[in-house]
Amino acid sequence: MSDKILLDVKGLKQYFNVGRPDEVKAVDDVTFHIYEGETFGLVGESGSGKSTTGRTIIRLNEPTGGEVIFEGKDVTKIKGKEELRKFRREVQMIFQDPYASLNPRMKVNDIIAEGIDINGLAKSTEERNARVNELLKTVGLDPNHGTRYPHEFSGGQRQRIGIARALAVKPRFIICDEPISALDVSIQAQVVNLLQDLQHDQNLTYLFIAHDLSMVKHISDRIGVMHGGKLLEVGTSDEIYNYGVHPYTESLLSAIPLPDPDYERTRTRIKYDDSVEKDGQVRTLKEITDGHYVYASDAEVKFYRDKIQAKKA
Ligand SMILES: Nc1ncnc2c1ncn2[C@@H]1O[C@H](COP(=O)(O)OP(=O)(O)OP(=O)(O)O)[C@@H](O)[C@H]1O
Ligand SMILES: [Mg+2]
Repeated sequence: MSDKILLDVKGLKQYFNVGRPDEVKAVDDVTFHIYEGETFGLVGESGSGKSTTGRTIIRLNEPTGGEVIFEGKDVTKIKGKEELRKFRREVQMIFQDPYASLNPRMKVNDIIAEGIDINGLAKSTEERNARVNELLKTVGLDPNHGTRYPHEFSGGQRQRIGIARALAVKPRFIICDEPISALDVSIQAQVVNLLQDLQHDQNLTYLFIAHDLSMVKHISDRIGVMHGGKLLEVGTSDEIYNYGVHPYTESLLSAIPLPDPDYERTRTRIKYDDSVEKDGQVRTLKEITDGHYVYASDAEVKFYRDKIQAKKA
């Protein structure tokens, strides 16, 4: 991981149905950055705005406000189709449901080659086919199976197809939106290992979205905790896992099953009461200790600093 910021998200807002009774602030003033070569884990319960954050970064949504600086350029300002196509070569997305995200009527070879074709990345059919074969091998699939259709593959294999499709355009940054949640537990580690190997070999940067803190802990360098469209806490994996202080982070931590059954039976799950945030005070994400950010009011800064210190003592 370098200290060069690859993606800088500033005050990102994504509201839906603005001005209507069903208005949703799916992403509400979210600020974070991701270093080159880093894996940034984004966790939170269903509906917290994780996918919307990812989709807005990659411009599948038109952002309501804020900036998304990638490689020094604000991608929210991209207007032309051509410029957007170039940006989407650099930034790819892998989805939770590997079946729904693959066209069932297309052969796997053609699914993987789509980005190569659209971007004119192969000079000849031979080069295109050779590249697809290489991609199939890279993700651990048999190149002879490229003429098959998605339904002929298992869930884990389909996710490998989705990964090959993303890699085909040689991206620098991949948004992994719960890429293993739909897979059997026995298969999850294999796909995670593949993603980690690829990151290492191809110097990739990941935004890794998950429900579960225990899942992202091992693969993330840093973690952001999201709830109700807000980023509530950010820090290194170890810091969040061991010294997370926002009540919502604490509730997530208390929900992770413990390996020791005796201890597991006696410990209490903390339930998050979000009325603490509805007291009329102005809160923003603030750096409480070095690199450890918490969504807090001015008055709460000292409280959280003391809380971190107490946990570390
Ligand atoms: N296109 C849309 N139109 C209206 N509301 C939307 C749209 N997309 C998302 N939302 C709403 O935005 C909120 C955040 O949704 P989002 O899918 O980002 O959550 P999530 O954290 O990814 O949840 P999950 O863990 O279930 O995938 C939800 O209330 C959702 O209903
Ligand atoms: Mg989602």
